[in-house]
Amino acid sequence: MLNVRLFLFLFLLAFVFATRPSLSRAPYAMRISCGARDDVHSPPSNTLWYKDFDYTGGIPANATRPSFITPLLATLRYFPLSEGPENCYNINRVPHGHYLVRIYFGLLAEPSFDNEPLFEVSIEGTLIYSMPSGWSTDDERAFVEALIVLKDGTASLCFHSTGHGDPAILAIEILQIDNKAYYFGKGYGQGTILRTDRRLSCGAKDPKFGVDYSADRWGGDRFWNSLPTFGQSSDSVISTKNSIKQASKPPNFYPEALYQTALISTDTQPDLTYTMEVEPTRNYSLWLHFAEIESSVTGSGQRVFDILLNGDVEFRDVDIVSMAGGINSALVLNTTVVVSGRSLTITLHPTKGTHAIISAIELLELVQAESKTLPDEIKALQRLKSALGLPLRLGWNGDPCVPEQHPWSGIDCQYNRTIKKHVIDGLYDSGNILLIYSFTSVCEVRGLDNQGLRGFLPNDISRLHHLQSINLSGNSISGVIPSSLGTIDSLEILDLSFNFFNGSIPESVGQLTSLRRLNLNGNSLSGRVPAALGGRLLHGASFNFTDNKGLCGIPGLPPCGAHLSAGAKVGIGLGACVAFLLLVTCFTCWWKRRQNILRAQRIAARDAPYAKARTHFNRDVQMARHHSHEHARTAAENGPSLLA
Ligand SMILES: *[C@@H]1O[C@H](CO)[C@@H](O)[C@H](O)[C@H]1NC(C)=O
Ligand SMILES: *[C@@H]1O[C@H](CO)[C@@H](O)[C@H](O)[C@H]1NC(C)=O
Ligand SMILES: *[C@@H]1O[C@H](CO)[C@@H](O)[C@H](O)[C@H]1NC(C)=O
Ligand SMILES: *[C@@H]1O[C@H](CO)[C@@H](O)[C@H](O)[C@H]1NC(C)=O
Ligand SMILES: *[C@@H]1O[C@H](CO)[C@@H](O)[C@H](O)[C@H]1NC(C)=O
Ligand SMILES: *[C@@H]1O[C@H](CO)[C@@H](O)[C@H](O)[C@H]1NC(C)=O
Ligand SMILES: *[C@@H]1O[C@H](CO)[C@@H](O)[C@H](O)[C@H]1NC(C)=O
Repeated sequence: MLNVRLFLFLFLLAFVFATRPSLSRAPYAMRISCGARDDVHSPPSNTLWYKDFDYTGGIPANATRPSFITPLLATLRYFPLSEGPENCYNINRVPHGHYLVRIYFGLLAEPSFDNEPLFEVSIEGTLIYSMPSGWSTDDERAFVEALIVLKDGTASLCFHSTGHGDPAILAIEILQIDNKAYYFGKGYGQGTILRTDRRLSCGAKDPKFGVDYSADRWGGDRFWNSLPTFGQSSDSVISTKNSIKQASKPPNFYPEALYQTALISTDTQPDLTYTMEVEPTRNYSLWLHFAEIESSVTGSGQRVFDILLNGDVEFRDVDIVSMAGGINSALVLNTTVVVSGRSLTITLHPTKGTHAIISAIELLELVQAESKTLPDEIKALQRLKSALGLPLRLGWNGDPCVPEQHPWSGIDCQYNRTIKKHVIDGLYDSGNILLIYSFTSVCEVRGLDNQGLRGFLPNDISRLHHLQSINLSGNSISGVIPSSLGTIDSLEILDLSFNFFNGSIPESVGQLTSLRRLNLNGNSLSGRVPAALGGRLLHGASFNFTDNKGLCGIPGLPPCGAHLSAGAKVGIGLGACVAFLLLVTCFTCWWKRRQNILRAQRIAARDAPYAKARTHFNRDVQMARHHSHEHARTAAENGPSLLA
């Protein structure tokens, strides 16, 4: 997370500008120098880049610039696989608007470092770029750029490992552009993101950023690579110092200088032809720029040409002067192309006059934005992540379900058409295999079972309303089973076996009418199993309650009454011992006394008659006080047993 004060300041700044008249309003701009300890200014235009040192993920390191296009920054931040397969920058307090988001890649400045990392980039949950191998030797591939509407106050940029090196990010730019920038007609703004494939300034000597062209800031400081020729001596460069009308205007604010150079076809080759490599079966938005800057053309009708894409006429009879409203005036044409092969060829074929002319070409890929996960479910998973002390290597950054190619490990997702969002339907091993590569081994992470999870299961788990299966088997989770689990109506499989759960099974679990499998074996559970589960056993559901501290109450388990708690057992044991000791003591006393009497009687009978008399005398006096003589005699005969 970035510095809060910094954001507060930027937020206030944005607020101040927002309340000014719109003419002077500057677009929001956030530039981050990854891995920098302090804010830095980069030459040549003294651009300010904020430090990212309060960011917690990844490792800051010294950087090598892979390309001259990359800003002059000394540090980067890289994300080793031990920190998980997906890592993100979440930039907060970004005002609702349309943005140009640019991410520069970096290379670690370490002598031992010899591999360019290959990874994938997503913005707001939509995968926009897979880095091609060899990117680090291709100047134009040192960054990825996309035009996107940011609605929820944050920009989430994630980097997904593909097993080829650690993602390394040099810098991030989030620059506000016009709300209707690159408006391409039908379908615009309906969940499309435009990824910049290339921008070419025809006939220019040097590549330039918008700032080098003194372009309007609302244009988003675009990078224009130079295209000095289409090749094979088919063209020549012309340029002018005249000012160009209609260039820097909404919504795209193109720099005027873009139209001051152009490529023009030659007498021997009247067609201008340019072929670009593209990804097959993708949709592209193509933008072509023209201005009549050749002095020999003075009015309309003098240069007319057709524009063909892969051989098919896309624009017929283009007359720059008449369409732009005069000479030295910018004309921008755009169209959407669906390409089937790997190349896109643009041909300008003159139909009047002998030469064709072109100033610039822009190619943007149309990417359909993915719909994110229900925010409440993301919150619940984040809560689960901290409660279970999820190991770093599992990641769980960014959006759980999108991009679809990179869901969080151990999570199953489903797209719910009613609410138009992704929801979590499983914390389960459903075959989503995540391969974590390291230099020494390949490790497989499937579900969340046997992942060394500890901690406890939070009540918030019930906010995952759409869960159908949970398998957290074989971890070290302790505490009680949250009773809120009973509110997840769709739950069919619940496997919490081989953990340290204690307490009793919540009564609410009995209300899960869809439950087919319940494995709670191998825990420390005790007490009565909800009676409703007992009834279910008969209907083909499979439950396992074995290896617990003492569960009872349903068929197959002991009845609850007969089953005593450990405390009760100790109590009964002690009681029995005391009773036994008492019995033994009494018996010993009686026995001794009886022996004494018998011995006394023997002695009396032999040689001491008074002894017997004395014995009887005592008894007779006591009994005579209350009873008749007969009674007394009976009592005397039974003496020893009465007195004992
Ligand atoms: C990065 O470079 C600076 C000098 O520019 C050096 O002092 C520092 O030790 C380097 N850091 C690492 C991690 O190599
Ligand atoms: C792009 O072309 C469409 C028609 O295909 C047009 O409606 C739209 O205004 C053009 N966009 C710009 C910015 O000129
Ligand atoms: C291209 O656009 C068409 C509609 O014009 C759409 O049906 C198709 O899915 C898009 N293809 C891709 C790869 O986005
Ligand atoms: C989609 O979500 C709604 C609201 O949570 C729910 O009622 C519906 O059953 C869900 N649909 C599917 C197919 O899961
Ligand atoms: C849960 O995962 C374990 C492996 O850790 C597996 O043995 C068990 O069958 C799974 N439970 C269910 C219900 O699929
Ligand atoms: C469950 O175990 C925890 C310690 O892990 C203990 O604090 C708690 O009191 C136990 N709860 C029950 C109901 O036994
Ligand atoms: C229940 O779990 C125990 C291990 O705790 C296992 O030995 C037993 O086979 C399981 N019973 C059933 C019916 O799956």
